[in-house]
Amino acid sequence: MADAIFWNKIADKYAATPIANESVYQKKLAITDKYLTEQSEILEFGCGTGSTALIHAPKVSDYTALDTSARMIEIAQEKLQQTPQSNLTFVESTLENWQQAHSDTKYDVMLGLNVLHLMADYRQVIRQSFDMLKPGGYFITSSACFEGFSWWSLALPVMKLIGKAPHVEKFTAKQLMQAMLDAGFVLAQEWKPSPKGGQTFLVMQRPK
Ligand SMILES: C[S@@+](CC[C@H](N)C(=O)[O-])C[C@H]1O[C@@H](n2cnc3c(N)ncnc32)[C@H](O)[C@@H]1O
Repeated sequence: MADAIFWNKIADKYAATPIANESVYQKKLAITDKYLTEQSEILEFGCGTGSTALIHAPKVSDYTALDTSARMIEIAQEKLQQTPQSNLTFVESTLENWQQAHSDTKYDVMLGLNVLHLMADYRQVIRQSFDMLKPGGYFITSSACFEGFSWWSLALPVMKLIGKAPHVEKFTAKQLMQAMLDAGFVLAQEWKPSPKGGQTFLVMQRPK
């Protein structure tokens, strides 16, 4: 898979890069905390090197974190060895393959952080996530949204062609919300870190 090769190549650099905005990250963690309980069974996809999974896992019953990049998962597992957490499992897998292999397993909370816009069909992923949640469960996402013209959107196809960028789906915050509502989700909480747009943090609920 072309994108897994891209993420494998940049995994070590990604792991070594500090979080771009610590206060925004902390607020996302704090919002997520409100939807976790000691009984929660969690599935995170596109977990990268596992930093967020390692923070949330001690608060819940069971936490599975997937990533399609073998190197990202390797780094996540190294971190887990340093701070063992028996209820946390890192798995090299796409969301699609995980769902096929575990079609009867349903989760209380699913997380897809900084990943939806990187997947080939975000609407399909949203529908899959709805199916994988228990009634009343939450889908928590953080996504880059493209509102109008940006030099980035022109540069991305060229960067992808030369292997310097992954596939990126360009959707607006409104399109993302519509895809969530079309799948059957209802809005529980929305936070936009910047009033100018660019990023949307959503907590969507599968109705009970
Ligand atoms: C921008 S990184 C985000 C990592 C982490 N969630 C974070 O917020 O730091 C995107 C991650 O999604 C993974 N990814 C891309 N497509 C995926 C898919 N179909 N299934 C699972 N992971 C995927 C990539 O390998 C990469 O590690």
